[in-house]
Amino acid sequence: MANVVVVGAQWGDEGKGKIVDWLSEQADVVVRFQGGHNAGHTLVIDGITYKLSLLPSGVVRSKLSVIGNGVVLDPRALLDELGRLEALGVKVPPENLRIAENTCLILPLHQELDAMRESGASSTRIGTTKRGIGPAYEDKVGRRAIRLMDLADPASLEHKIERLLSHHNALRRGHGMPEVDGKALYADLCAIAPKVLPYMDSVWLLLDRKRREGKRILFEGAQGSLLDIDHGTYPYVTSSNTVSAQAATGSGLGPSAIGYVLGICKAYTTRVGEGPFPTEQNNETGKRIGERGREFGTVTGRPRRCGWFDAVLVRQTVRLSGIDGLALTKLDVLDGFDELKVCVGYRLDGREIEYLPASEHAQAKAEPIYETIAGWSEVTAGARSWADLPAQAIKYVRRIEELVGCPVALLSTSPEREDTILMRNPFES
Ligand code: IMP
Repeated sequence: MANVVVVGAQWGDEGKGKIVDWLSEQADVVVRFQGGHNAGHTLVIDGITYKLSLLPSGVVRSKLSVIGNGVVLDPRALLDELGRLEALGVKVPPENLRIAENTCLILPLHQELDAMRESGASSTRIGTTKRGIGPAYEDKVGRRAIRLMDLADPASLEHKIERLLSHHNALRRGHGMPEVDGKALYADLCAIAPKVLPYMDSVWLLLDRKRREGKRILFEGAQGSLLDIDHGTYPYVTSSNTVSAQAATGSGLGPSAIGYVLGICKAYTTRVGEGPFPTEQNNETGKRIGERGREFGTVTGRPRRCGWFDAVLVRQTVRLSGIDGLALTKLDVLDGFDELKVCVGYRLDGREIEYLPASEHAQAKAEPIYETIAGWSEVTAGARSWADLPAQAIKYVRRIEELVGCPVALLSTSPEREDTILMRNPFES
């Protein structure tokens, strides 16, 4: 039986929420393994819309939901999200939500630093979600982070805060920001501890046990492979590994636990924040895609940049994440275009290349080479079988499969979960 990892195959916002919800219904355990509350997953269940940022999607279906050590956790954001869910009638008891004891915490000082950098000169701006994600990961690799388990040990917490603040207060002085008072931070953390500690667990051990029992585990990726700290469009990336391999390190299960990798991608491309985007259409076409696709960020409400499908990038992320099958979403947004363009290569300094170059400078210069495909006038929204699709839409999907070197396992034709064409169930592959 395959455990499934779901990852975004573009720059995030590929429509993972609906697919993850459909898979989580079949899973026994749902695990978040990277990122934090910078993510935004929208689920529509029985007409109710749930917007999740930090919690694994399984919480809504009362599945065992796990936040792995690869996540950075803002305890306040966690409690707020739990409160919002409760207001919608979803209670998440501690036995349904387990959080790794070695998860690093996001503190207000991380958010302040993130916001300060984003408000500075354009040279330091990444277009982050200002949730403190980057600064929290910096402290993790700097070996000075406060971890969830530290809240259970007030005696050593004081010393850990001191170590953290010796770094941050020096930085803050340099930026003209007020210093953080260690005693106040200690009091805040002690006050929040009893609310979050009931969820703490040795997650690697729990997952190992579930795996041995033959339970189905769904690893829920956030953001997209092109935002990966190593393999993405650095420095315009998030601060975690978003490729599928992170499911192992970010949860404590060995890589052999991963059975099937499902990559989610839109039938076109979007990105939020700064950074290169070769097929961006900063024109009427981009506007039309954005309006039809309602392309506004779930977390920040920012309008997303829109452009044509980039087969070069998706082919690259298929390889980087070892994607076995794609879930292609929002095909219906392309209904009514006379013709569609798909990027099949780049021109760089007079040469043609078939991959995105690694340097920021070269990425900014890469010019897309397009193939034009005739569009369709029929409506694909709501299609539930291949037979419902116009011939040209099928041609478009088949051409994408060919160009990216990966089959489409699922096709989503509206936010409604029934509007899905299933070719292969990842859990049964
Ligand atoms: P951060 O993750 O807040 O540090 O933001 C870094 C970059 O990742 C920015 O370009 C964000 O717009 C982008 N980003 C972070 N989370 C998401 C997401 O869930 N969807 C799309 N982009 C994201």
